Amino acid sequence: MNMKTNSLYYGDCLEVMKPWPDKSVDLIYLDPPFNSKVKYNVLFGAGKHEEKYDLAQMTAFSDVWEWDIDAEQRVANIERAIAHPAHPAISAFRMLYPHGSGLLSYLSYMAERIAEMRRLLKPSGSLFLHCDPTAGHYLKLLMDSVFGGASFRNEIIWCYTGPGSPNMRQFNRKHDSIFWYSAGKTWTFNADDVRVPYTDEKQTLRKRMGEKFDDAEEIKKYRERGKIPETWWQMRIAPRSKKEYLGYPTQKPLALLQRIIAAASNPGDIVLDPFCGCGTTIDASHRLRRDWIGIDISSYAIEVIRRERMKDLEIPLEGMPRDLEAARHLAQGKPFEFEKWAITRIPGFAPNTVQRGDSGIDGRALIYGLPKADALCIAQVKGGKPGIDALRAFAGVIDANSAAVGVFITLNEWDTPEVKKCIAGAGTLKVGAASYNRLVMYSIERHLRGDSAPLPPLAHPRTGLPFQAELRASG
Ligand SMILES: C[S@@+](CC[C@H](N)C(=O)[O-])C[C@H]1O[C@@H](n2cnc3c(N)ncnc32)[C@H](O)[C@@H]1O
Repeated sequence: MNMKTNSLYYGDCLEVMKPWPDKSVDLIYLDPPFNSKVKYNVLFGAGKHEEKYDLAQMTAFSDVWEWDIDAEQRVANIERAIAHPAHPAISAFRMLYPHGSGLLSYLSYMAERIAEMRRLLKPSGSLFLHCDPTAGHYLKLLMDSVFGGASFRNEIIWCYTGPGSPNMRQFNRKHDSIFWYSAGKTWTFNADDVRVPYTDEKQTLRKRMGEKFDDAEEIKKYRERGKIPETWWQMRIAPRSKKEYLGYPTQKPLALLQRIIAAASNPGDIVLDPFCGCGTTIDASHRLRRDWIGIDISSYAIEVIRRERMKDLEIPLEGMPRDLEAARHLAQGKPFEFEKWAITRIPGFAPNTVQRGDSGIDGRALIYGLPKADALCIAQVKGGKPGIDALRAFAGVIDANSAAVGVFITLNEWDTPEVKKCIAGAGTLKVGAASYNRLVMYSIERHLRGDSAPLPPLAHPRTGLPFQAELRASG
């Protein structure tokens, strides 16, 4: 995949970045998984619509690391590659964990990707690595190995407040670290674009200004210009009450990204976020007139950016299936990813949390405007060529779950007399004046043509409002 700016890429950032040219990016901000041993779930319905969405939960991304064959291979490769920039750090970590560990698995995963990012940076470029105290001290060693210790510019501490628990036996952990490294000896730092007001008392100002302190005009100018911020930044986390909050786990505040981008890049520069989540970096870059590129391995994250955060833009998307052949390829190679992708082709549907044990249901939605007990929509995805028995079984799942509607999603159009009979047998549903089939056939072929599924209006899985987003054939 060629590098295109102002575009989103779906996939593992390592694979996406590999074909891109050396020295092509001005600023990289990454907020990767932290080795926090957590599976980040999106609990749809957080907040005031909670009661409506207790059914719909999905994993956004996993941050659990194990020592497995892949990890062993990654570490062995870097240990053999004496010219790999992460070779010194990974060899040292291996001495600490001679029999492997989840941490070593995580660090070797990050090493492969950070080395690739270093290659992409222009000589005047910078990289900001956002992490927390779980593995931050190891990541800094890794960064020293890849960039050289002399390229370390700052450790920014982003601190915030939040509730603890009365029985805590340690201080309340409320900060993240952001390591700034420059690629070369000169770098962009727009001090005047990020100055903040002085909070100093008169005494301190007097010391700073010496004899000028008596000049009221000078004091005013001095105060107005403001100061370059210290390396600790107190900023609120993206609060649930704010419009900015999109419900994506680990979402970062816009103000944090705006400060980093304003300080370390110029308008027209290229800003890359290889772990872009719900697109905070993209939003901040767009507002500050930088060109940007976002990559994420989760189709859900990409949809949140396209359908919610940046819904007023037509954002080109790379790496998602654009034709039937690519969709079939995804279905064969990564069936669970395909399932999640296929489900999210219908705005309003949320895919399942887990791969198995779904009793024939791969995703759920609620019809807007009906009482919850009558509003359930379910969907099942078939990546291969299904037989009529599978469709009959799904009709049974609709009844067994008292669902209002069930959508059977296939790759190709499927419209035989047997299918029609099955649809007729499942009956119809009235919503207002309109009547809908209870068993709905939908296909990726139709989605790619731009046709939407013939369904009653669905509620947005997080806000409960009617889902307005259009199906996009390019998505
Ligand atoms: C901590 S979140 C980023 C949150 C983001 N800063 C925001 O404000 O929304 C990490 C993201 O990295 C993504 N991710 C994990 N492994 C990845 C990989 N190998 N390539 C691309 N994205 C990945 C996850 O899906 C997740 O969205």
